[in-house]
Amino acid sequence: MKLVRGASVRLRHGAAAAVAATAVLALAAGCAGSSLDQPAAESSASKGAAVKVGLLVPLSGVYAPLGKDMKNGFDLYLDQHDGKLGGREAKVTEADEGEGPQTGVPAATKLVQQDKVAAVVGVVNSAIALGVRNLFDEAKIPLVIANAGANDITGSQASDYVWRTAFSNAAVNEAIGATVAKDMAGKSVYILAPDYAAGKEQMAGFKKTFTAAGGKVAGEQYTPFGKTQDFQPYLSKAERSGAAAVYAFYAGAEAVAFVKQYDQFGLSDKMPLYGSGFLTEGGVLAAQGGAAIGIKTSLHYSNQLDNPENAAFVKAYQAAYDASPTVYSVQAYDAAAALDKALKAADDESGAAIAKALGTVGEIASPRGPWRFGANHDPEQTYYLREVKEQNGAVVNAVIGELTN
Ligand code: BEZ
Repeated sequence: MKLVRGASVRLRHGAAAAVAATAVLALAAGCAGSSLDQPAAESSASKGAAVKVGLLVPLSGVYAPLGKDMKNGFDLYLDQHDGKLGGREAKVTEADEGEGPQTGVPAATKLVQQDKVAAVVGVVNSAIALGVRNLFDEAKIPLVIANAGANDITGSQASDYVWRTAFSNAAVNEAIGATVAKDMAGKSVYILAPDYAAGKEQMAGFKKTFTAAGGKVAGEQYTPFGKTQDFQPYLSKAERSGAAAVYAFYAGAEAVAFVKQYDQFGLSDKMPLYGSGFLTEGGVLAAQGGAAIGIKTSLHYSNQLDNPENAAFVKAYQAAYDASPTVYSVQAYDAAAALDKALKAADDESGAAIAKALGTVGEIASPRGPWRFGANHDPEQTYYLREVKEQNGAVVNAVIGELTN
C-alpha cells in the first residue's frame, strides 16, 4: 500500500520519477486488482476499486510545518489500516495549498477536476477554506476540513459537502474567555493576531465571552499575515496600552517569532500571555523553548492528554516520525477515520452518498477524547485549558483543566 501512495505522489513531481512510479504503480495495481487504464472518474467510482483521495495541505509558506503534521497524521492512519479507506485501497494525491486562496483554489481545483478524487482532506487556512467552498459544493465532492476554522464554513456558508474534524475559530476562543476574565479580575487585556479571516474571527470569539464575563479590552492590532517578522512595534504598543495581559493567535513560523520576541522584550514577566492553543502547538513549542513557559491556551488537544487512545497514538506517531504529534496530526488522523467509516457506510460511490454517510459515522474514539459531528458538521468536543510547563527537561502543553463555556 505504501508503494501505491508513494507512487501517486511521485507521479506529479517530474518525468523521471514518473517513469519509475508508473512501473511501481502498475505492479502494485496488479496486486490490488485495480485497473489503471480506466478513466480517473470511473476508477475512483467503481465498487471495490481503489479510492482516490486528495490531501490539500500547505507544503510551502508560513504554515508548511502544520501541513507536514497533517500529512503525518493522515499517513499514520492509513499505515495502521493497511493503506485502506472504506475497505478499499487508498490512492492519495497531495496538493500544496500554499499561503492563500491564490494558490489554494487552483490546487483544490486540480484535485477535483483533473485528478477526479472522491473526497479531499486538509486545508489549514481559513481564507482558503472559504475560497474553495463553492468548488466542492458545486462539484458535489466531500471536503473534510482538518484544520481551517472559518466560522462561515459551517455557518452561513454551510454545505452538505463540507465537514470539519477540527474546530471553528469562534468555538476554540469562546471556550477560554470567561477563564481569562476571572484571572484578570477587572484588569484589561491587549489583543494581537494576524490580519486575515482566522485572526479576526478568533479574536471576535475571545472578545465575546471575555467581555460577557466582565473582561475589558485595552486595544487590539492585526499584523500583516505571513509578512511580519518584527513584532517589536506591536509589542511596544501593547505595553503602552496599560493592559495587564495579552491575548493572541499566531501559528507556525509567526507563533515562534511572536513568542520569542515577547519574551526578549521582557513582557513575559510583566504581562501574562494567553491565546488559542495554536500559539504554542507542536514544533513551534520546541522552537520557542523556555520563552513559552507560563503561556495559557485553549485547544481541543494536547499530546499530554491522559487517555488510552492518546497513549497509543503518541507511541505510534513517535515510532513512525521520531516526533511528538500535534493537534494538526490528530485532526488529519481523525479525518481519515471519519472518511474510512463514511466510505464503508455509503450507499454508493458518489460524492453525495459519501457526504451523507459522513453524517452517520457517530462517535470517533480520538486521541483528543471522544467526539462526533454536530448538526452543523463541526465536532462536538472538549476544549482544554493548557499551560506551557517544563517537565522532565522538556517544554510541554500541560493540561490543567477542561473549559466549559
Ligand atoms: C486558520 O486559518 O483557520 C488557522 C490557521 C492556523 C491555525 C489555526 C487556524
